[in-house]
Amino acid sequence: MYSKVNSLGIFGLDAFGVEVEADLSSGLPRFDIVGLPDAAVKESRERVRSAIKNCGFDFPVSRITVNIAPADVKKEGSVYDLPVFIAILKASKQIKADLSQIAFIGELSLDGELRSSNGILPMVIKAKECGFKSVFIPKGNEFEGSVVEGIDVFPAESTKEIISHLSKDKMIAPAYRSVEQDEEEPFSVDFSDVKGQQSAKRALEISAAGGHNCLMIGPPGTGKSMLAKRLPTILPEMTFDEQMETTKIYSIAGELKNGKRLVFRRPFRSPHHTISAQALTGGGTIPHPGEISLAHHGVMFMDEFPEFDRRSKEALRQPLEDGIVNVVRTSGTVCFPSEFILVAAMNPCPCGNFGNPKKECKCSDSAKRRYMDKISGPLLDRIDLHIEVQNVDYEQLSSKGKEETSEVIRKRVNEARMKQRLRFVGTNVTCNAKMTPKMTKDFCVLSKEASELLKLSFDRMGLSARAYDKILRISRTIADLDNSENIELNHIAEALQYRSLDRKYWDL
Ligand SMILES: Nc1ncnc2c1ncn2[C@@H]1O[C@H](COP(=O)(O)OP(=O)(O)O)[C@@H](O)[C@H]1O
Ligand SMILES: [Mg+2]
Repeated sequence: MYSKVNSLGIFGLDAFGVEVEADLSSGLPRFDIVGLPDAAVKESRERVRSAIKNCGFDFPVSRITVNIAPADVKKEGSVYDLPVFIAILKASKQIKADLSQIAFIGELSLDGELRSSNGILPMVIKAKECGFKSVFIPKGNEFEGSVVEGIDVFPAESTKEIISHLSKDKMIAPAYRSVEQDEEEPFSVDFSDVKGQQSAKRALEISAAGGHNCLMIGPPGTGKSMLAKRLPTILPEMTFDEQMETTKIYSIAGELKNGKRLVFRRPFRSPHHTISAQALTGGGTIPHPGEISLAHHGVMFMDEFPEFDRRSKEALRQPLEDGIVNVVRTSGTVCFPSEFILVAAMNPCPCGNFGNPKKECKCSDSAKRRYMDKISGPLLDRIDLHIEVQNVDYEQLSSKGKEETSEVIRKRVNEARMKQRLRFVGTNVTCNAKMTPKMTKDFCVLSKEASELLKLSFDRMGLSARAYDKILRISRTIADLDNSENIELNHIAEALQYRSLDRKYWDL
């Protein structure tokens, strides 16, 4: 007696169709599963056996062989509990329904309850692409399942519910998308909380408007963390495609389970500096996305930047350049998207007072150099904006004057982004920071004075070719904020300011 049940699997960011076959034959009773890694097979077998018994069905007394195909792709075992369960009941004729148009995904507990699983969203999308009419998923994954249209998604709490549904005794209600899931909570912070710091705020506005990375340098307690946490409040809204891409990553990382909100707003990730390189970039036997992919289309804030492990910092280089990260594993290479705005913050020296006119720096030159050397030249070169954050004076801190709100800044950011969207229409570039060298040449037209200043500074500051391109891209964003078609002298002059820190702090 033979049966075949549809399911799905995930590798990297992509889902694929899986077939679970069960064959019952006479002979000594045994239960074998092939096509899964060893450890997963053992566990899955025990869960399925218990679930079948505890749900009041007969566990067939025969030789049971279950095959999970394709066998050559590494799979995570637990989501196949449900299809294996169904396949055995179907092969032993305890389920009569036609299952050819239905897919099943989910981990079982011993009593037949369905546990939430990772990666349900991409799997449901794939199920629809495979042409299935319906898919059964765990109730805890209802929200992500509900996003997909064009397929009936049935969230079930237990196998009993699924059996009743299949025998048409009691139907399960299709996945329901609650309104509160779609509504955004208002931000709890606002740029108007930050007193003074006009130049840092301006730099963050440029960062948001053009998607530029930035590094904030300044003494402790000047508001660097405070400023960084407010960057999401001025970023443009996500497009639907961006929301889907980021939500898929969160689904695979298991961050959407049990009624957690879907990703409709740009993520803000701020890992601690003790994070390992693998947790940052992603990894595992079956690769899972890391922090930088969870920051996809959002902000990655790295506070105390020099304190991060050198390997973690250097691992940022590829994603900063290409917007993707390659995770190499024995099971294959996986490419995760990781396009984020990096906001790094650091003190100017170990004691934090270097460059502070009011406090004396107690660090030796070699201590300072060692501290700065924790950030390599190539990494520094990849950061667009260098922002100096100074102490605010008492008058500013205590003033009752109103600071500009995030809403006002965001409006300007949105207008600048609108110009970029029109500029890059038909390409996969979305903002100035991501311009290719050719685009930089085409779209960054300098006035005569501007190009003279750039030439002069290039020689004097000893800029690299990469830094040159970055200055052009930043000045493009500054010109966009200024509603200017061409890049003028003042735009280049401001852009140059944001590259001046390498010399001040690194050329000791
Ligand atoms: N410009 C500012 N306006 C208002 N409060 C500030 C400002 N700068 C610092 N603070 C106060 O100091 C605290 C520490 O700031 P923080 O952002 O953690 O500094 P840093 O990250 O530079 O060490 C903040 O929580 C805030 O209460
Ligand atoms: Mg801080």
